[in-house]
Amino acid sequence: MKTFSIAIDGPAGAGKSTIAKKLAHLLQCIYVDTGAMYRSVGYYCLQNDIALEDEQAVGAALPMMEIILKHTEEGQRIFLNGEDVSQSIRTAEVAASASKVATYGAVRCAMVERQQDMAKSTSIIMDGRDIGTVVLPFATLKVFLTASVEERAMRRFKEYEEKGIPCDLESLKQEISLRDQQDSEREISPLKKAEDAIEVDTTHMPIDEIVKHIEDLLKGRL
Ligand code: DC
Repeated sequence: MKTFSIAIDGPAGAGKSTIAKKLAHLLQCIYVDTGAMYRSVGYYCLQNDIALEDEQAVGAALPMMEIILKHTEEGQRIFLNGEDVSQSIRTAEVAASASKVATYGAVRCAMVERQQDMAKSTSIIMDGRDIGTVVLPFATLKVFLTASVEERAMRRFKEYEEKGIPCDLESLKQEISLRDQQDSEREISPLKKAEDAIEVDTTHMPIDEIVKHIEDLLKGRL
C-alpha cells in the first residue's frame, strides 16, 4: 500500500480515538492522538502550579516539558518528562486545562511542529481539532466526525462508569458544551471542518460501520 495520512477531526466524544485506533490496527499504521499532547501540557501546568490563565507563564514552561509518544502493541503511550501519564491525563480537570492551554499560540506552534514531524515519512492516522485544517492540510483523506451533545455525554458517562469514576450525566453535558464552545471559538486554529473533509455523523452509526466506511474512502484515493 502507498504511504497515506488520514486526518480525523471533531468535537470531544464524537468517537475519534475509538475509530482511529481501530483503523490504525486494520491498516497497520501509526495512530497519533494529538489531544493527549495538549492534555500533557495542561497536566504539567496543574502539577506545577502554573496558572492556566497566564499565557506567558504557560509558554515559558514549554521547554521544561519533554513530551514523547511511544507506539506499542497496545497503542500509543504518552510520557511527560519520563513519566507515563497516559492514564493521569484522562480526567475532566485535565481535559478542561488542555482546552484552555490549546488556545495559546506558543502551545499550538510547538505541538503542530512535533505532529508534522511525526507524519513526515510514515503512514499515519492523526486525530484532533486542527489536523485537516492546519497539521496535515495535504492529508490523503480528511474526516470530520460529529454526534449530538446528548450522545457524546452518554458515551463519556459509560466510559467513566466502566472505569469506576463517579460522574453525572448533566455535568458531563455541560462540560462537553463548554469545551465545544472553547475549542470552536478560539482565535487560533479553532475546531472547524476542513473544506475538503467528509463529514460523518456517528450519533446512530455503529463503530464498525464507520471504520469500514472510512477504509473504503481511503481505498478510493490510493
Ligand atoms: O481530544 P481530547 O479531548 O483529548 O483533546 C483535549 C483538548 O485539547 C481539546 O479540548 C482541545 C485540545 N486539542 C486541540 O486544540 N487541538 C488538537 N489537535 C487536539 C486537541
